[in-house]
Amino acid sequence: MDSIVVRGGRELNGRIDIAGAKNAALALMPATLLSEEPLTLTNTPRLSDIKTMTALLQSLGAEVTALQDGKVQVLSSHGLTSTRADYEIVRKMRASNLVLGPLLARFHEATVSLPGGCAIGARPMDIHVSALEAMGAEIELRDGYLHAKARGGLKGAVVPLRFASVGATENVLMAATLAKGTTVIENAAREPEIVDLADCLRAMGAQIAGDGTSTITVQGVDRLGAATHRVVTDRIELGTYMLAPVIAGGEVECIGGRIALVEAFAAKLDAAGVDVTETPDGLKVKRRLERPRAVDVTTEPFPGFPTDLQAQMMAMLCIAEGTSVLEEKIFENRFMHAPELVRMGADIDVQGGVATVTGVDRLKGAPVMATDLRASVSLILSGLAAQGETIVNRVYHLDRGYENVEDKLSAVGADIERVQGT
Ligand code: UD1
Repeated sequence: MDSIVVRGGRELNGRIDIAGAKNAALALMPATLLSEEPLTLTNTPRLSDIKTMTALLQSLGAEVTALQDGKVQVLSSHGLTSTRADYEIVRKMRASNLVLGPLLARFHEATVSLPGGCAIGARPMDIHVSALEAMGAEIELRDGYLHAKARGGLKGAVVPLRFASVGATENVLMAATLAKGTTVIENAAREPEIVDLADCLRAMGAQIAGDGTSTITVQGVDRLGAATHRVVTDRIELGTYMLAPVIAGGEVECIGGRIALVEAFAAKLDAAGVDVTETPDGLKVKRRLERPRAVDVTTEPFPGFPTDLQAQMMAMLCIAEGTSVLEEKIFENRFMHAPELVRMGADIDVQGGVATVTGVDRLKGAPVMATDLRASVSLILSGLAAQGETIVNRVYHLDRGYENVEDKLSAVGADIERVQGT
């Protein structure tokens, strides 16, 4: 298995291109299942999660053609042959569950394995299931699979979500585009990836209003057509690279970034003593102080501080001046990076969903283990300023969500390389 070796202590200066959002692309790709006509996605990131979604769609009989080295995907569900998402693919990635809503809407049936993905908590499917049941689906759990049927098709309904789940909002949104009548999703997730999905579905002919707010209204239509859509910038990759010069020093411009995508995060950076400036091309980031200051952070659904930036923020707080309290409210069990950071000399005390981080002058390089996608990159960020060599093992998680991390960071001056495993 590959590992990443980082030798800390170099300032970072220059520009980093931010890719299209993984989480947006993983919802946009299954939207192809709603239509007989092709869907073209541009600005898609080149990640192993995208390959997993490609394999899943192909297993259903969809055609997926990657152009321009994977930056453009042409998808067609003209000749679909199956409505069964098999465990062998779904276990690799939770977002595979996003085929459930579209399959049910267009073919009135779907069999979808319960998902796997990062080991960051229980992550059940109850919100998806009860929402689709409210639209007339009958769903049964048998042999680890959800068996869903909608005799006569899905029907519009008022669908209140008990929690603003991103995936459930996306599944219901896609399902509602072809349901009979009007669907109102209450307590909908407001993430930019939801708005991006709604934009794409509208381009395909769907009638959607209110995306980006807690109430989304969808007027069902008979069919959806062809569309071309550009995937929104990845706000998590953006936030990750914004932290690189805060930890390592220097000034980095993240190309394609916008404040609106990372407002809560940028506000915390400001409080920590970091300048974030919008430029015509993106966001420029530079710390004002020799060391960033401690800040308290609580993860929340958008527009709050994203859970997907919690591990990276912790990496920064480990070398900040003072003590910070980090509260994780979205996923239990999402502090698995903390013991690894402690191996590098960090001072972190975890009690349940709360981590107390007291900054130290400098971390020390060590061999560490990547436990999930965001944890892996937090260890790389820490390594950028640590004394000596940090070896991040088990980086397959990293490749699920970050394209060419070592190239992007070495282009701005980091001493980082990938070592091929056996
Ligand atoms: C999406 C993102 C993921 C991000 C997360 C929260 C994608 C592909 N992934 O994941 O990177 O960390 O949003 O911002 O977009 N829950 C239930 N029952 C359900 C569904 C969810 O209890 O039916 C719980 C989960 O266990 C979790 C919380 O709700 O505690 C948030 O999950 P959700 O918003 O659904 O996250 P995902 O869509 O899986």
